[in-house]
Amino acid sequence: MSDTHLCRECIPSPSNIENICEVNQLSYIAQWFIFFCLPFIFAFGLRGGLLLSCQVAGYAGEEQLGEALDGSDNVIIPAGVPRKPGMTHDDLFKINAVIVKSLRTAIAKYCPNALVNMISNPVNSAIPIAAEVFKNAGTFDERKLFGVTTLDVVRAKTFYAGKVKVPMAEVNVPVVGGHAGITILPLFSQAAPKSSNLSDDDVRALTKRTAEGGTEVVEAKAGKGSATLSMAYAGAVFADACLKGLNGVLDIVEFSFVQSSITDLPFFASKLSQWSEARLQLHITSCW
Ligand code: 2OP
Repeated sequence: MSDTHLCRECIPSPSNIENICEVNQLSYIAQWFIFFCLPFIFAFGLRGGLLLSCQVAGYAGEEQLGEALDGSDNVIIPAGVPRKPGMTHDDLFKINAVIVKSLRTAIAKYCPNALVNMISNPVNSAIPIAAEVFKNAGTFDERKLFGVTTLDVVRAKTFYAGKVKVPMAEVNVPVVGGHAGITILPLFSQAAPKSSNLSDDDVRALTKRTAEGGTEVVEAKAGKGSATLSMAYAGAVFADACLKGLNGVLDIVEFSFVQSSITDLPFFASKLSQWSEARLQLHITSCW
């Protein structure tokens, strides 16, 4: 892998707690936020033995935030509180917006060229706000700001695979729109492999289950959190795609909530493809 671009990836937590950062070709995390970040560590590590090929460094407190972020190529923001039963993604707005505020500002200052993978909810609001912060700082690049919606794709694939009885690894389901309730739009009509056995009622049920997947987990956990492990897996899949893109891999297809002009909405979860050798020439394409 001698021609691999060395990437620095950072996973900052809420300010005043700890920021965890790693350096090297495909770098990942450690320590603290055991509760939140450990699933990420396992997800990243399991996805390619990456823990063996990176250096990991931990940084603590607001005063080390700049050092943690400095020069990062990819920043993953999982910070924030999860939903409790009865809450919508939007109900998290006031709390999480404050938590990620200092991170957005610090990214604009210390790593303005980084890709940003926003996991913190509500993603549908966090991304437009981050765009404004970066615009005000003069650092906004629409190709670099991503709301992570991979978990919606993972859920749609899982439910579809179960219904049509094929291995999930063989399934593809585009999911567009957003990352909250009815804004999550799985396109089962475009799922692969095609199934002739799916009725309209089946598609409606699969769509509803995908859109309500997060709520189902929140209710099952009864106030003890949200979809931590599956989100860690989904976050790892998306971050992995970003690192591959940074390393010049061209044939990446992922879905993400991004600034978009394919509908009247300024932000829309869309299909991303065609990373270019010049890196970061991410094209947003309509998939219907
Ligand atoms: C979910 O959809 C936590 O946003 C995450 O479950």
